[in-house]
Amino acid sequence: MALKSVPTRGRTLDHAALVYDLLEPVLLLGKQAEYDNHIVSLLGLKGAHRVLDLGCGTGVLTRMIADRLDAGGEAVGIDAAANMITVAQKKRASRNCRFEVMAAESLSYDAESFDAVVSSLFFHHVPLDLKEKALSEAFRVLGPGGRLVIADMHLPTTFMGALVSHVSRWFFMQPQIGENIRGVLPDLIEKAGFQRPEIIATYFGYIALFHTLKSHGSSHAN
Ligand SMILES: C[S@@+](CC[C@H](N)C(=O)[O-])C[C@H]1O[C@@H](n2cnc3c(N)ncnc32)[C@H](O)[C@@H]1O
Repeated sequence: MALKSVPTRGRTLDHAALVYDLLEPVLLLGKQAEYDNHIVSLLGLKGAHRVLDLGCGTGVLTRMIADRLDAGGEAVGIDAAANMITVAQKKRASRNCRFEVMAAESLSYDAESFDAVVSSLFFHHVPLDLKEKALSEAFRVLGPGGRLVIADMHLPTTFMGALVSHVSRWFFMQPQIGENIRGVLPDLIEKAGFQRPEIIATYFGYIALFHTLKSHGSSHAN
């Protein structure tokens, strides 16, 4: 049965699902493997971990994570765009890897049911209030001591980074990008209850890799 996209005010990519795997390596200037491996290395994976990938697109990163887990672990990718999930499910090669149509701001998973939550290039697709809700949901589904790793557009650090991010904001008419490049993510991550995130690396002068933890005993700040 054909999957149906879920309603969201996020900018979904149903229309791009069939060409996304051709476009992304170009957008990441041939560094996709290095970038994805760097994200995975920050997750501190153990074989039996359960990992949730928000806005997983065609599931390249999700599958890479599943390949590092054993039979007791699971990588779950969610995306609001049914076409993205259809492509991801068709390509699924590993056991312990699952994809579902779901909005990141409204997760159907139980509290404390994941060891890590990851997201790559998703937060610049949703408006401020949904960024907050998605972070709050990530906090809820993570167990104590769970990790959050986010790779996304942030304050540009180079002239080229500034140029690319400002041109994208206007070319795609995407104010959500404007929020990211004004640097809103660290405060929102902290406000959701996480420790202040650390920026581990920057790619292309406009994508930051954030790492943080849900401290043992921490509660939602709102
Ligand atoms: C730029 S793509 C990133 C895909 C993948 N994570 C990657 O790094 O290539 C952003 C994805 O976020 C999805 N998206 C947008 N709004 C969403 C929402 N509210 N909940 C879940 N996914 C959403 C889009 O459909 C799209 O697949």
